[in-house]
Amino acid sequence: MIGTSCDIIFTAQEAVKLSLEDHSVIVIDVFRATTSILSALEAGAASIIPVTEVAEGLVRRAAVPGSLLCGEREGLPPAGFDMGNSPVAFSGSAVRGKTVILTTTNGTLALRNASSAGSVHIGCLRNAAAAARAAARDSDKVTILCAGTGGRYSIEDAYAAGACADELRVLGFAPTDAAWSAVLLSRLPPETAVNRETCLHLRRLLALGF
Ligand code: MLT
Repeated sequence: MIGTSCDIIFTAQEAVKLSLEDHSVIVIDVFRATTSILSALEAGAASIIPVTEVAEGLVRRAAVPGSLLCGEREGLPPAGFDMGNSPVAFSGSAVRGKTVILTTTNGTLALRNASSAGSVHIGCLRNAAAAARAAARDSDKVTILCAGTGGRYSIEDAYAAGACADELRVLGFAPTDAAWSAVLLSRLPPETAVNRETCLHLRRLLALGF
């Protein structure tokens, strides 16, 4: 499909105001939900069920024998969870063949808020170009939805969103001003754009020992 438009929304909360029915949406939460989902699928997870509430996760785990309840609040696994939200932990053998029920603070909220879209794709730094190409096949309107952090812009999500938008631009999609700002950001070396000084979420994860 030859593209028309490509836009970026910078927080999960903003998505509820939009009509996304005829859009293909790429949801991005680099630190860490969508990076974790990609890692789990690469490691052979059978499926991922994103949920927004801890209580919903506990109910879903009980309903799916052999499933793993994973995720975080304040960066750490809530009581009773099988695993946290670390892409490194998901990349091992622990999730092979398993259904992963995942709840995170911002990432699974973004996924829920994108659920009215015609199609939803998972994006992160590692699959940005592939996610863009997949989204482009589904619609001539692609919206990239960054999870952000607590309703605020997150630079690591914007950086990956810019990489997706740049690929979409090559495919013939016209970036909005917002998308262009992220495209320009994404052309910086990653360590220049996302580092201890620029990125609150990176500082939080490092402080937790990740
Ligand atoms: C989120 O959804 O807010 C994140 O994935 C949080 C994290 O695990 O660092």
